[in-house]
Amino acid sequence: MQSSRTTKDGVRIYSPVLLAIYDFLIMRVLTPYVWRCSAQHYAQLYRDFMSRNHADVGVGTGYFLDRCAYEPGEVRIGLFDLQRNCLEFTARRIARFEPETYQCDALKPIPFHATRFDSIALGGILHCIPGDMAEKGAVFDSIQPLMHANTKVFGYTILNQGIRKTLLSRAVYFMLQKLKVINGLNDSAGQLAPELKKRFKTIEVKTIGCMAIFVAHSPLQAAH
Ligand SMILES: C[S@@+](CC[C@H](N)C(=O)[O-])C[C@H]1O[C@@H](n2cnc3c(N)ncnc32)[C@H](O)[C@@H]1O
Repeated sequence: MQSSRTTKDGVRIYSPVLLAIYDFLIMRVLTPYVWRCSAQHYAQLYRDFMSRNHADVGVGTGYFLDRCAYEPGEVRIGLFDLQRNCLEFTARRIARFEPETYQCDALKPIPFHATRFDSIALGGILHCIPGDMAEKGAVFDSIQPLMHANTKVFGYTILNQGIRKTLLSRAVYFMLQKLKVINGLNDSAGQLAPELKKRFKTIEVKTIGCMAIFVAHSPLQAAH
């Protein structure tokens, strides 16, 4: 565990300037050329699993929510993030869906008493969080108050072990992790899968380039 790192380290980078260039940088540059995984794979997760009663935890700029297949009035969207400016940016962008916003740390149980969600996206949040996968797995516990027995959870995260790396992916990973933007030197699909298995009946983890793409259904401990 990298004990000198705090939860705030992984979110400090999300300034208004970064948010302005985030979509281009992540979807058009880093994902395809550095992590060797098309953003189409993330979009496919949203197409397959985003329900009409959806929560996004770690919203960034709301890129995929803005492109979702639903019309205003057809979908309830809850936005959860530690960073107020990410919440505000995304809420403005998808204002047509009248999203609910909740500022919270996804590493701590989320105090939530409203109607639970049918789907929850955790896109790109795990690699921001300090510690190893066992520690990051706390996120799956924190979102318990948001889930019912049939909730589907999906997401993606950058790995650093058990994947084929290029010179470029090594160099960029090294730099981003030194800057504390991404955390998880030991993160692997092999460590993520058991964290999901402990908490969900059905799980799937696949790797594409340096990314893990995961889906988990039916939390073992959730309200019915
Ligand atoms: C890499 S962005 C991902 C954005 C978006 N989901 C996507 O796929 O493009 C990570 C997001 O997670 C949020 N985040 C990081 N750590 C968090 C934590 N402990 N609790 C809540 N949000 C967190 C950041 O503020 C940021 O909005």
